[in-house]
Amino acid sequence: MLWFPVDRSAESSLTVQVYEQLRQRILRSELVEGERLPSSRELASSIGVSRNIVLEVYDRLLAEGYLEIRPQSGTYVAAGSHFPTIAQAMSSDVEGQSAASIARPPPPPGMIDFRAAHPAADYFPRAAWGRLAKEICLYAPERAFGYGSPEGASELRSVLARYLLQARGVRCHPEQIVITTGATQALQLVTGLLSRDKRARIAVEDPVTDEMRTIFAYAGAELLPVPVDDTGILPEELPAGEAPDFVFVIPSHQFPLGGTLPIQRRIQLIEYARRSDCLIVEDDYDSEFTYEGVPVHSMQGLDPERVIYVGTFSKILSPSLRIGYAVLPIRYVEEYRRLKWFADRHTAMLEQLILARFMEEGYFDRHIRRMRKIYRKRRETLASNLRKHLPQARILGESAGMHLVVEVPGVRFTEERMAQIAREGVHVYAVEHYALVRGRHENRIVMGYGGLTPQDIADGVERLARAITAAD
Ligand SMILES: Cc1ncc(COP(=O)(O)O)c(C=O)c1O
Repeated sequence: MLWFPVDRSAESSLTVQVYEQLRQRILRSELVEGERLPSSRELASSIGVSRNIVLEVYDRLLAEGYLEIRPQSGTYVAAGSHFPTIAQAMSSDVEGQSAASIARPPPPPGMIDFRAAHPAADYFPRAAWGRLAKEICLYAPERAFGYGSPEGASELRSVLARYLLQARGVRCHPEQIVITTGATQALQLVTGLLSRDKRARIAVEDPVTDEMRTIFAYAGAELLPVPVDDTGILPEELPAGEAPDFVFVIPSHQFPLGGTLPIQRRIQLIEYARRSDCLIVEDDYDSEFTYEGVPVHSMQGLDPERVIYVGTFSKILSPSLRIGYAVLPIRYVEEYRRLKWFADRHTAMLEQLILARFMEEGYFDRHIRRMRKIYRKRRETLASNLRKHLPQARILGESAGMHLVVEVPGVRFTEERMAQIAREGVHVYAVEHYALVRGRHENRIVMGYGGLTPQDIADGVERLARAITAAD
């Protein structure tokens, strides 16, 4: 049965929503050439709209060539109407990666999406940011409006170096920082820097964030999976033979499993890097939001010569700023700046100046303290609703960040099961989706809560529990 949600409170009309849903499914080959569509009456009753709406949509799709009528038979998807989107086309180059991980489409209307690592857009500090933006625009020196240097604004690098030392134990001079267009670009440039005209070999945590995995794979790197347990990467499982070019880790809040790497394993990792003469690349994307105990300091602070530290403002403030950074051992700085210049000359300078003032004037610390309270509340809402509606479930990795992992004994989150959950109007993410070696995490899902209101979280868990129990 064909089903998708429609949202009566959305700005676009029901006709437009149904049209877009069908058109996108045909373009993406989810409805394949020659497939028979349900009758207008069936589809109308399945998605809960009037039959006239479906008839109007079918007519339009017929006129545009997406559908064809076969007399005495029904309405079918027409030949030649499949067209891979850019993301899909790229995915064929990126071995084993899903296009969805490169450019995920927005969730359909009405869907409660527990997407991980999405900050609370409703709490962006608009007033302070807007005021500083106006001041910068009116009073910044003229050079701020010309081309800048690839490493970014010195004002931002200075205040950032102080912040990183105090908050994350990162030991660096501002000269070692290069501001990038998000952590995404920082990691892409790191891959180029450390692979140098050959196919990079990168040891990655398994499971690993799909975005970063995609970046590495797209750069042509060979990925060497290293298993992860509830507290992070297992150093004894690192490649024993030829050393990788670098080991990519998220030690403060592993994605997706959420573990915090204990100091013993951090030391083992650094010892491995020294022994095999490779680097550690540390992604520290959300450790400001630690709810239990104090945030563990960075690995970079343990050995600034062996660790490249990558951070981002996407989670603390907003991903739309596109500001991240890399902290590099001095010997790599010049080459990294060069790579950054070739990539896009530099990251938007006015935004960097606003951010520097935002940090200097104390708004940044205040914002983090405020958001920690908001996320703590959202996390508690999620945990308490999970305990209420899915008492058999075990919660992992909830001590920091904006997501946690739910393990449901006896349940396998197969594609079929995920589709069933989606039909209840809720989107959760199977840990298996992030796994390189499949079959170890089948009863686990990732649930991000940062961007959802407590009401959405409560409703979403209820829908999830309904989908799970209905299938049992
Ligand atoms: C593990 C991890 N690190 C970093 C980022 C941030 O990337 P960016 O700074 O490019 O927004 C993400 C994005 O979701 C992520 O999942």
